[in-house]
Amino acid sequence: MQEAIILVGGKGTRLRPLTNHTPKPLLNVAGSSFIRHQIAKLMDAGVEHVVFATSYLASLFEEEFKDFSQELKISYAVETVPLGTGGAIRNAARLLRGPVDAPVLILNGDILSGLDLRDVLERHTAREADVTLHLTRVSDPRAFGLVPTDESGRVLSFLEKPKTQEECVTDQINAGCYVFRRSVLDSIPTGREVSVEQETFPGLVAEGRRVYGHTTDDYWRDLGTPLAFVHGSADLVTGRATSPLVARSGEALIHPTAAVDPTARVTGGSTIGPHAVIGPRVIVDRSIIGGNVRVAEGAQIHESVVDHDSSIGSESFLREAVVGCHAHVGAQNELPAQLRLSCGIRIPAQGVRVSGTAVACPTVH
Ligand code: GTP
Repeated sequence: MQEAIILVGGKGTRLRPLTNHTPKPLLNVAGSSFIRHQIAKLMDAGVEHVVFATSYLASLFEEEFKDFSQELKISYAVETVPLGTGGAIRNAARLLRGPVDAPVLILNGDILSGLDLRDVLERHTAREADVTLHLTRVSDPRAFGLVPTDESGRVLSFLEKPKTQEECVTDQINAGCYVFRRSVLDSIPTGREVSVEQETFPGLVAEGRRVYGHTTDDYWRDLGTPLAFVHGSADLVTGRATSPLVARSGEALIHPTAAVDPTARVTGGSTIGPHAVIGPRVIVDRSIIGGNVRVAEGAQIHESVVDHDSSIGSESFLREAVVGCHAHVGAQNELPAQLRLSCGIRIPAQGVRVSGTAVACPTVH
């Protein structure tokens, strides 16, 4: 029986306020929670038992899957105190049922990738590896820890983020998907916080264990930041990234209960959630619009997320913004890039503008 662990216990701080009430893997991308896309992919690869390593808002995962009736066993390893990535893997390993030598797939709960999981499992077994890591290449490695390998793919070391060009000895980085020989999981210490990247992997290499990299040029994106999150969702809708749950690619994924005015343009892989209302001449490009959101006439929303039950006033302009749930942006606002509006916040008409106020000062001097 092929088994997998998915790490889903992180707080997702970089995606606040979206993650205030919803753990990152349960946020909606391309019409389904992200974790459901991952589960569908794991089932396609023959996985029959998944252990969720949960901590932050743990009960919401059981809620999400309480009616899940497909051919997959789901177990929950709940951490009362977050144990870090390595500690979480060790804690979840107690619930595995397979033999000691069996390969166990381990995924971060926020990585969208085109990796062929059957292929990486086969390579792991053929090499008799202790651990196989999926590695991806990045154009600017300075923001990542690096993983150089030799010609056979064996990992040489795990390097901290390089500070200079000379320290960029490779463009390969850890892509957040691993195969572990089950017995190797037992060597991770219990009962305390452990980082798999900073402690477990370097330790295994130092001990001379068979740690291999599997480097691919497949689609890969870490959905941890707001911009990556909207881009990942849009890529699933347009077909640049694939998921068994997205049957047809297109310019937009509009829920059948949403009302989109015929003069509105919804493009770039945008998603429009249930019961949302998109008014006349609105532009929604490469964005995620949640359920029950109302966007009034002439507003423009680019590369942004508007969470459920919020409203955007007429002629307002958003780019790279995150609007929390139940928020209201009045008419003729112009929000600067990277702005995050907390849940429930209300901005009056013309309250925030980048290009100067639209009307004379209303204060009596
Ligand atoms: P940020 O707070 O925005 O950095 O997000 P995050 O909390 O998700 O952290 P990060 O992106 O580094 O985590 C990578 C993966 O590991 C995600 O899928 C997290 O859910 C998961 N993760 C991180 N820390 C823990 C932990 O302590 N326990 C468990 N179970 N999972 C964790």
